[in-house]
Amino acid sequence: MTDTELRVSKIRNGTVIDHVNAGEALHVLALLDIDGSGGEAVSLGMNVPSQTMGKKDVVKVEGRELSQNELDVLSLIAPDATINIIREYEVAEKKRVEPPETVDGVLACPNPDCITNAGEPVRPRFDVLSEGVRCAYCETIVRDDLTDHLVA
Ligand code: CTP
Ligand code: ZN
Repeated sequence: MTDTELRVSKIRNGTVIDHVNAGEALHVLALLDIDGSGGEAVSLGMNVPSQTMGKKDVVKVEGRELSQNELDVLSLIAPDATINIIREYEVAEKKRVEPPETVDGVLACPNPDCITNAGEPVRPRFDVLSEGVRCAYCETIVRDDLTDHLVA
């Protein structure tokens, strides 16, 4: 990559989430619960040119490596994402995200009558389908805007 192509600087230690579908970068931040208040350096590229995707978003978070649970949920909004773990400026690990069979305790069911919203100690769980996710308790399907349903 030449200097004229470099849009967002390299990071020293942390995670680069690359090949995020264009327009999803802010959802990725919401999912990771990053709003800047934690003090970590965060850089975003939105609608940057990509050979394979036409346009893509890129999210770089300094000083943070993602948990498996975070990667699982990330796969639902950014199925083509590449996760690059950066250590001392080098790509130390590169992995793809994979959709999990279920997501546990991350998304809340939008159905007010669902047992998970009844004040009972029932942790919300969703089965992952090709077209969205389905509540394991009341079978409500959520297709779009999954990040609007993150557990508070
Ligand atoms: N990157 C970074 N800081 C570093 C090293 C890499 O921000 N110290 C970023 C690069 O800008 C790129 C991503 O991490 O967005 C992956 O880096 P690399 O594997 O070197 O790039 P590519 O070969 O283009 O990746 P891929 O094959 O996954 O497209
Ligand atoms: Zn439900």
